[in-house]
Amino acid sequence: MQSNNGAPHLLEDIDTILVDEATIKARLRKLGDEINAAYRGRELTVIAIINGAIIFVADLIRELDLAIQLDCIRVSSYRDEMRPVQEPEIIDRIRLDVEDVDVLLIDDILDTGKTLSRVCEIFRKMRPASLRTCVLLDKQTTRAVDFEADFVGFQIPDEFVVGYGLDFAERYRQLPCIGILKPELQNPPEWS
Ligand code: IMP
Ligand code: MG
Repeated sequence: MQSNNGAPHLLEDIDTILVDEATIKARLRKLGDEINAAYRGRELTVIAIINGAIIFVADLIRELDLAIQLDCIRVSSYRDEMRPVQEPEIIDRIRLDVEDVDVLLIDDILDTGKTLSRVCEIFRKMRPASLRTCVLLDKQTTRAVDFEADFVGFQIPDEFVVGYGLDFAERYRQLPCIGILKPELQNPPEWS
């Protein structure tokens, strides 16, 4: 089923569609099955890293046949060219107590791995019963730190992608598919 929104004119800025809407939907069902099997009979605390994971998490949790608590965090970007290089930090604290609960951290994309490895480091100190990670996309070729996610939607090549929650300067998040942004529109890079 195709969505009838998602601002069709935005597609004009896309070079190549990497994952279409139907493929995302089908993969989310399978991913939901994997997560259901991993946590069967337990309550899961889902922590979404926003803004990027917002659409993915909204759709994924509706594939889960588990009791769920949901919270969101924001992480400061180390890609901000206005400031010196720094470690990603959580800039909006979670409200839930995650001690002794099963935590699943969800992000849109795993690229260098710096964001999720840092967020995991911070969460481990909160002593959850278990801590796993899930990403919609995994750019396998670009890791700067040794980090792999436990649940992955799609492996993709090392290209700048937008849509289905992923942005360029906060734009394109509502595209229903995932596509490579035209190179001439990628400058200057303003990742968030
Ligand atoms: P990492 O810390 O390098 O793994 O990057 C994770 C964050 O970088 C993601 O949460 C995104 O916000 C951003 N990012 C990395 N690659 C892309 C991309 O291709 N499109 C949009 N955002 C990206
Ligand atoms: Mg982002």
